[in-house]
Amino acid sequence: VTAPRAKLYKGVEMKFDIITVGSAVIDTFVESRIKETRGEMLLPVGKKLLVNHLGFATGGSGANTAVAFSRMGFKTGFLGKVGKDENGEMILKELKKEKVEFLGSISREPTGYSIVIDSKKRDRTILTFRGANEMLSFSELNLKELDTEWFYFSNMNENSFDTEAKLAEWANKHGIKLAFNPGSHIINSRRKDVLKILRYTDILVVNESEAKDLVGRFDEKAFKKIMKLGPKIVAITYGEKGAKVCNELWIYVTKPNKVKVIERTGAGDAFASGLVAAHIKLGDVEAAMKVATLNAESVIQQRGAKVGLLSWHQAVREMDRIKVNKKVFYRES
Ligand SMILES: Nc1ncnc2c1ncn2[C@@H]1O[C@H](COP(=O)(O)OP(=O)(O)OP(=O)(O)O)[C@@H](O)[C@H]1O
Ligand SMILES: [Mg+2]
Repeated sequence: VTAPRAKLYKGVEMKFDIITVGSAVIDTFVESRIKETRGEMLLPVGKKLLVNHLGFATGGSGANTAVAFSRMGFKTGFLGKVGKDENGEMILKELKKEKVEFLGSISREPTGYSIVIDSKKRDRTILTFRGANEMLSFSELNLKELDTEWFYFSNMNENSFDTEAKLAEWANKHGIKLAFNPGSHIINSRRKDVLKILRYTDILVVNESEAKDLVGRFDEKAFKKIMKLGPKIVAITYGEKGAKVCNELWIYVTKPNKVKVIERTGAGDAFASGLVAAHIKLGDVEAAMKVATLNAESVIQQRGAKVGLLSWHQAVREMDRIKVNKKVFYRES
């Protein structure tokens, strides 16, 4: 495995390998003993429920994936929005510590905030306040600063999603490659613009419900339908059942190892950023899936979406632990 190479564009080294666009929040983790019944966590009204463990961390998919790429050794920028408050400062400080350059701006809205309630079975429900995360506008971007080889778009809403849609077009005009991880809400509510971004997307990562919202299914037949929309590499993740990735030639299939789940927030971000990082470095889907799976596995064994994100060397060292099977992808079937 080679070290990251210097990126040359018109003879000049580019400032960034990758810029992530997405949310940044403070996550509060509430570990409860609340039981899950038929897919619900029921909170009785008018009672006080005890919390076993309380934790705080910075999170949000844009910031999480930026830190993931930086740890993998990429020159990384983060484009997003925080409020003019202590939570915002905490996020900026953390990004700096992780060697991520902040390319966003400060909003009059407060910094985004999420309350992550873990059930007894270790799945979670998130109460989220988007705040500043919705307020990124295209007109305030300093486009000259966005000197990058890749963009990674995580889920954004409202104004910030409009900005992603415009930025995708701008990126395409400037030969910048794009990875995209959209959420169900935006796929359903802004379909036309999601399809527009997909035309410019090189790598798409979705979970099974996002795949279903996009093309009505999440089995292997979904790959052909999604690829018709633009992406050249498509990953569908199936939680603890693993993931499948298709690259127009092969469908690669992998399962994670059985691990003890401590707190699963950030699994999707870790998988997607690991996949994109290893694809950029190695151009090999099989290796990329291994790095993705290891990154996700590592994150869910610890509390906090960034805790456990692997460095490139940590990931490479463990690659043999993940088995990947492949089969021919029949475009015509
Ligand atoms: N319980 C688990 N055990 C092992 N690996 C897991 C588990 N849950 C998720 N993963 C890993 O993380 C990857 C992504 O998980 P998932 O399909 O749940 O993504 P997601 O729904 O986008 O998650 P998120 O809610 O974090 O956005 C999986 O493909 C798998 O590799
Ligand atoms: Mg996800």
